[in-house]
Amino acid sequence: MKILNLNINGVIHTKAVPATMTLLDFLREEVGLTGTKNGCDSGECGCCTVMIDSKPMLSCIMLALEAERCDITTIEGIANGNDLHPVQEAMVEKGAIQCGYCTPAMVINGVHLLENNDNPSETQVKECISATVCRCTGYNSIEKAMHSAASKMRKARHG
Ligand code: FES
Ligand code: FES
Repeated sequence: MKILNLNINGVIHTKAVPATMTLLDFLREEVGLTGTKNGCDSGECGCCTVMIDSKPMLSCIMLALEAERCDITTIEGIANGNDLHPVQEAMVEKGAIQCGYCTPAMVINGVHLLENNDNPSETQVKECISATVCRCTGYNSIEKAMHSAASKMRKARHG
């Protein structure tokens, strides 16, 4: 066992866990943050994406101990209190959530893209979305949501 201190959504969580525990299991089983999903457990589907030091990473193929001294943001840390992030708002407005299983990862990747580039090309949005498998295949509405969120963010920033 190893004692880990992980900074998740701005809160330090200290747990004694096997050194081989993945970050995904740490989040879901040790901390109870079940918004991050396990779609394949093998680095294929993208559903387990979280932000590590502001970059999207797959938590199912990362050890929890590798995330020590990093800032970890999960889907639970994306909204600001009761205020949804524009990407979350747009996903709801555009009907881009079907079963919702891929939604946390889609949102994490969308937030990363749009926080760095609020005027993305069609191709950049498609690339962003392609990082996650949506079994409900609602890719068109997710794409529309990303463009709508970009527009909201441009308006908020530049008027
Ligand atoms: S659960 Fe991590 S990539 Fe599928
Ligand atoms: S909404 Fe069901 S997997 Fe994407």
